Amino acid sequence: MKKNDISIIILAAGKGSRMKSSKAKVLHNISGKPMLYHIIKASLEISDDISVVIAHQKEKIQEQMNSYFDDINFIIQDTKNFPGTGGAMKNIKPKNEKVLVLNGDMPLIDAQSLDGFLTTDADIIMSIFELENPDGYGRVHIKRGQVQYIVEQKDANEDELKIKSVNAGIYAFSKDVIEKYIPLLSNNNAQKEYYLTDVISMAKKDNLNIKPIVVNKEKFKGVNSKKDLSDSEIIMQNKIKEKWMTLGVSMQLPSTIYIEDSVTFKGECQIENGCRLTGETLIDNSHIKSGSVIEDSIVKNSDIGPLAHIRPASYIKDSHIGNFVEIKKSSLEGVKAGHLSYIGDAQISEGTNIGAGTITCNYDGINKYKTIIGKNVFIGSDTQIIAPITIEDDVIIAAGTTVTSGKIESGSMAINREKLKTIKGFYYKYFGKK
Ligand code: UD1
Ligand code: CA
Repeated sequence: MKKNDISIIILAAGKGSRMKSSKAKVLHNISGKPMLYHIIKASLEISDDISVVIAHQKEKIQEQMNSYFDDINFIIQDTKNFPGTGGAMKNIKPKNEKVLVLNGDMPLIDAQSLDGFLTTDADIIMSIFELENPDGYGRVHIKRGQVQYIVEQKDANEDELKIKSVNAGIYAFSKDVIEKYIPLLSNNNAQKEYYLTDVISMAKKDNLNIKPIVVNKEKFKGVNSKKDLSDSEIIMQNKIKEKWMTLGVSMQLPSTIYIEDSVTFKGECQIENGCRLTGETLIDNSHIKSGSVIEDSIVKNSDIGPLAHIRPASYIKDSHIGNFVEIKKSSLEGVKAGHLSYIGDAQISEGTNIGAGTITCNYDGINKYKTIIGKNVFIGSDTQIIAPITIEDDVIIAAGTTVTSGKIESGSMAINREKLKTIKGFYYKYFGKK
C-alpha cells in the first residue's frame, strides 16, 4: 500500500477525566513531547492524510501540534450532542478507501507496528491483546475464532468482565463501513456515549469480514491515568536508551537516566547514573557525570559534573565543568570551571580558568547583560563579574574581587580588596577562654 492510499483519523477530543488534570489528556508529555505528538509522528510515516478530531481544549491542541507539524487537518467534534469515540467519527469524510483510526492516547505505537493494518483483505481490521488484568479496556467477545462484539467495561456483565482479550483501540475500516455504520450508532449504554466499538457488532451481523490482529501490549498501551502515563514513560525511555546504547553510548544504571526523544549523541559518550538530558541537546564525545542536568545545549569533547546544571542555549567545547556549576546561554571553549559557579550570558575562550565561587552578575532586575572573557584568563575564587563586561586575554582577577569596570585590559590584574585587619585577642574577649 502506498503512502497516499490510506487516511488516518486520530481521536483526541476526549477530556481525559481519569487524568485528574486541567490539561487535555493528549497534551501530557512522554519523554518531553505531548502524547499526541508521538502518535502523529508515527502516522506521518504511513500517510500524508492525517486528521485529528478535537473538542476539549481544541485551541491549545491545534496551537501545539501546528508548532511541530504542517498540514494536519483538525476536525471539531460536537461532544455535546455526540459524545464518545463514535461521536468523534460523525463528521469524518474519508479521502481514501482505507481509513486507519487511532485513539490519541496511545503514545507508544510506531509506524512498523501499524503494518498489519495496511492490508486490504478485510472490511475491518481491529487490534486485540490479552491482559491478565484487563481493567479499563473494552472486552472483545470471540466465538470460534470470530470477533462477535466489543463490550465496554462499564456495560459488561459478570461473564464479559472475565474476558481477557481486550480492544487495543486501533482499527482499519473501509470507507464504506464508516459511511454506513457511523450514522447508525446509538448512545444506549452506561455512559450515554456513541461508541465506535459498536460498529463491530453491526458489521458482524451483516457478515462483514472482521479480522482481529494480536498486537504488542506495550506498544499499544492506552494512557488513561497518571499511573498509565508513568508506565508509558518507562517504556518510551527504555526504547530511547536502548537505541543509543546500541549505537555505542555507555550508560551506567540506565534506569536512573532520563533522555528525551530529541536528544542526540555523537562519538564516544558516557552517561553516568542519575542524569537528565532534555530538549535539542547534542552530546558529542563527552562524559556526563552523575546527577547532571543538560537542557537544549551542545556539549563537545568535554566532561560535565557530577551535579552540574547546563541550561538552554549553552555551547561547551573542550571544557571541564565540575560540581555545582550552573551554565546558562553561554559559550565556553577550552575552559575549566571546576566548582560552584554561575555562568550566565557569557562567552569564554580557551585556556581560561574559572575559580570556585565565580558568579557572572548578568541581571540587574530589569535586563540581562553579557560577559565576555578572553583567552588564558585566570579568575580567582569567589569573584563577582558585573555584566556588561569584557575581560580581555591574559588577565588575572584576584580572588574575592568584584569586577565592575566594564573592561579589563589584556595583560593586567584586577583586584579590589580591603586591607586585612587583625584584632589581637578579640576571640577571647568575645567568647571567653574555654
Ligand atoms: C477505548 C475503547 C475501548 C478500548 C480502549 C483502548 C471505545 C468506546 N472504547 O476506551 O474499547 O479498549 O479505548 O485504549 O472506543 N475521544 C474522542 N471523543 C470522545 C471521547 C474520546 O475523541 O468523545 C478520544 C480520546 O481523546 C482518546 C480516545 O478517543 O484519545 C479514546 O478515548 P478514551 O475515553 O480513552 O476511551 P477508553 O475508555 O480508553
Ligand atoms: Ca483510553
